[in-house]
Amino acid sequence: MRQALVGAALALACGGTGNAARAEEPAGPERYVVTGDAIIEPLAGRRGDAALGQALIGERHRSLCILCHAVPGGAAQLQGTLAPSLTGIGSRLDEGQIRLRIVDMKRLNPESLMPTYHAPPDGARIAPAWQGKPVLGAAEIEHLVAYLVTLKE
Ligand code: HEC
Repeated sequence: MRQALVGAALALACGGTGNAARAEEPAGPERYVVTGDAIIEPLAGRRGDAALGQALIGERHRSLCILCHAVPGGAAQLQGTLAPSLTGIGSRLDEGQIRLRIVDMKRLNPESLMPTYHAPPDGARIAPAWQGKPVLGAAEIEHLVAYLVTLKE
C-alpha cells in the first residue's frame, strides 16, 4: 500500500508539467565510473553548490527526497519516514558513496524504493518519451552531493 502511494506520487511528480528545466539538461545521463559502492569523480567533472543542493532538497515536487527522507531543519510535516534520515549522512558516507546512492540506488539494492535519479533507465518500465532522460541532471546531482557532505554529526 505504501509502495503504491509512493508510486503514484512519483508518477505525478515525474509526469507533471513543471519540467521546463529538463530541456536544458543533456539528453542522456552523464557517463560515470563506479568504484566499489561509490562514484568518486563528480559528474561531468563539476562540483556543485551546497546552497543550491539544500534548496533542491526542499523542492518536494521536483527532487522528491523529503517524500521519503527526513532532513535537518525541514518542517515537521515535510519529513518523510520511509527511508533513513539524512541528518549526519556526511559522517556516515563519503562524497563518492553519496553520489552513487543518488545516481542509482538500485545498483546497491535492486529492491530499493528510492528512484534512480541519473542512470540509464530500465526501458521496460519507462514511457518512450522519458527513455534516456535522467530524473535529475548532472549539475543537480552535484548540488545535492555538495549539500549532503556538509551534514556532519
Ligand atoms: C521513494 C522514496 C525515496 C526517495 C524519493 C528518495 N529516497 Fe533516498 N533512500 C530511500 C530508501 C528506502 C533508502 C534506504 C536504502 C535502500 O533502499 O536500500 C534511501 C537511501 C538514501 C541514501 C543513503 C542513506 C544511508 O543512510 O545510507 C541517501 C544519501 C539518499 N537516499 C539520498 C536521497 C536524495 C538526495 C533524494 C532526493 C534526490 C532521495 N534520497 C530520494 C528512499 C528514497
